[in-house]
Amino acid sequence: MPLIKTTAMFKKAYDGGFAIGAFNVNNMEIVQGITSAAAELNSPVILQCSAGARKYANSRYLVHLVKAALEVNDIPIALHLDHGPDYATCKSCIDDGFTSVMFDGSHYSFQENIEKTREVVEYAHAHNVVVEAELGQLAGVEDDVNVSAEHAHYTKPEEVEEFVSKTGCDSLAIAIGTSHGAFKFKPEQCTRNADGVLVPPELRFDVLAEIEKKIPGFPIVLHGASSVIPKYVKIINDNGGKLDDAIGIPEDQLRKAAKSAVCKINIDSDLRLAMTAGIREHFMAHPEHFDPRQYIAPGRDYIKELVMHKIKTVLGSENSAADIMALVNEY
Ligand code: G3H
Ligand code: 13P
Ligand code: ZN
Repeated sequence: MPLIKTTAMFKKAYDGGFAIGAFNVNNMEIVQGITSAAAELNSPVILQCSAGARKYANSRYLVHLVKAALEVNDIPIALHLDHGPDYATCKSCIDDGFTSVMFDGSHYSFQENIEKTREVVEYAHAHNVVVEAELGQLAGVEDDVNVSAEHAHYTKPEEVEEFVSKTGCDSLAIAIGTSHGAFKFKPEQCTRNADGVLVPPELRFDVLAEIEKKIPGFPIVLHGASSVIPKYVKIINDNGGKLDDAIGIPEDQLRKAAKSAVCKINIDSDLRLAMTAGIREHFMAHPEHFDPRQYIAPGRDYIKELVMHKIKTVLGSENSAADIMALVNEY
């Protein structure tokens, strides 16, 4: 089956109260770990590449790695540009065979964001590619865009209807309290639960509900949605790493989001932590090893374990692959 757009995936996810995982890929082992997990659970998956990933690996390598994953695994896969910074990058991905692009105009004024997004939508739709846009700003590093916590702001529900209709975008990334990276909250922003675990402030589900009311049926995207799983942070720290106070979004909140209009949940930091944990653990146990296959494979295994966990307990997308494949011809 060829790469597909996200349209059928989002239709099924919206109607079925689940979300599709969008995982960042930078090399072969990451692609393999994610797609073998999705295949084992009959789940669709979105593989996304940032501008940084394209620079690191070369876009053509990434496209072919993802196409190889499609040949090996019988599941629906979309190839998406994450945080496209400008028209030229979006056009280059569309020309390269991506089926979905994000244009991130969130740091522009409302009007400029509309105009620039619209330009990308026109080129994308003419080439049968869908577009994710962003309104509101998340804190953290978004490729070339580095937003400090004080400049981040929530999406304004009163703006979404006009933005979606004027841009013609196919999905909308919103800001409701998530942020990029493995250090999403400071410990002093959190409370401790009965087990002594730091719990960050709740996402703004009230803002999400307002947005849903303004654009019913429209797919919403959540960026910065890694949960920073303590197991992998502990393995890293127990094996020579130093990640103090890494805090993510609690999984019960992500599960709640996945049941709403949120159809795409972006995960990158959790993959980085899982791979690093596998490699560090291996090196500590086997300091004599120097064959990259020996130490990268455990990183790939942890990525697979992590993605299976996400699909089963956060996203809820398992066993929806066949239904989505059946819908693809309609969209
Ligand atoms: O949102 C950002 C993603 O985690 C991609 O990060 O630009 O370092 O590839 P990157
Ligand atoms: P995390 O840093 O929370 O994994 O977010 C990734 C992301 O939003 C990619 O666009
Ligand atoms: Zn993002």
